[in-house]
Amino acid sequence: MSLLKIGIAGLGNVGEEVAYQLIKGFRVQKNLFKFELVAVSAKSKKKKRKVDVSGIRFFDDPLEMASSQDVDVIVELIGGDEGIAKKLCFSALQNNKSLITANKALIAKYGKELAELAEKNNLFFSFEASVAGGIPILKLIREGLIVNDITKLTGILNGTANYILSEMEEAEKGFEEVLTDAQNKGYAEANPAFDIDGIDAAHKTIILSALAYGKMPSLENLSIQGIRDITLNDIKYCNELGFKIKLLGNSSISKNINGVEELFCSVKPWLIGKNYGLSNVSGVINAVQIESSLAGSVMITGAGAGGEPTASAVLADIVDFANGTKLFSFGRKAYDIKNNFQTMPYKEKFKFYLRLNVVDKSGILADLTTVFKDYNISIESVIQKSNKKDKTAELVIITHKASNTVLDDALRSIIKLDGVITKPVCLNIYS
Ligand code: HSE
Repeated sequence: MSLLKIGIAGLGNVGEEVAYQLIKGFRVQKNLFKFELVAVSAKSKKKKRKVDVSGIRFFDDPLEMASSQDVDVIVELIGGDEGIAKKLCFSALQNNKSLITANKALIAKYGKELAELAEKNNLFFSFEASVAGGIPILKLIREGLIVNDITKLTGILNGTANYILSEMEEAEKGFEEVLTDAQNKGYAEANPAFDIDGIDAAHKTIILSALAYGKMPSLENLSIQGIRDITLNDIKYCNELGFKIKLLGNSSISKNINGVEELFCSVKPWLIGKNYGLSNVSGVINAVQIESSLAGSVMITGAGAGGEPTASAVLADIVDFANGTKLFSFGRKAYDIKNNFQTMPYKEKFKFYLRLNVVDKSGILADLTTVFKDYNISIESVIQKSNKKDKTAELVIITHKASNTVLDDALRSIIKLDGVITKPVCLNIYS
């Protein structure tokens, strides 16, 4: 049994758990592999932690760890797409250290370059923990489904957002209160805006697209909508109508009539009928559904955030490295990954949920229906709840199928109508 020497940079929620497991020992460590945590780096050396790392070499500067002779593999758990995490990852691979990271923002932006560098220097580079916490989704696509053409991915990819939406419904609590709760439980990102505004799910959708199709859209090119505007009332209306609201990362690929591949990719909240599997994925649980050519439809679920599940993914990468697994990090040569791949607006038509807050006076409904008529959008049903106290009304409209672009145009007209108080909430209905 040869000894694998590990250096961890970043002892947050996940880093601390990885260190703890390495020191304590986990299943395969007992008889198959010998690991030693030889170096750590963190903001604070003295902070009280779940595990005592005082006997382990401490680096104030993680970059020095990347050039240390003692370390075989750097485990980067600092996070962020620029700054020290980026420098550390590039410098590790340049210094002939293998690299394991959970940094989705970095992989979504520089994954191809890092993979090229790893291949050039014949190093192990993996990032299982960057998507869906403890679920081995990258391994599933990269290895289990390797012979399949994948055409579509649908994922609940952000545990915090899913926790917030589920908890708002179950506890009948407001958004802010539930967010604080999620932060206290250690699910949220350092900047929770990433969770709430869909950025975190977008990073993960980009990484999944790279593995599934070899196409990597840029974050700027993705249509992204978060869950900030969703109220408890929205959740209640949807419930009454037979739906759950879920933040989904979607991507699909198909050929147009000229045989050119088109990529569709978005992150936004959807209404999902309660008969769909994804609608029952609650709390911090993530799920990914994959449409593949031979294996058909495959769905995998599990804990998408939290120290232990995410550490499980990091440690599995460490075991793969120890096993001598020859890995193409994205399941193909880095050279074959198309960076900054242009995404297209959805061509498919969907039903929509619209919630509007309006002044409760005559003519408002007529003005609204005129806009719908002008854009040729047919209404399926309307719910109106009046608030007599402040003479306003909440309107919920379900449309028949229309395209996203037409709906967006109609919304621009609706916002300008006299009597429409707040920006309407508009959500696609998954079917
Ligand atoms: N903040 C992330 C989530 C953690 O809530 O899913 C794992 O990426």
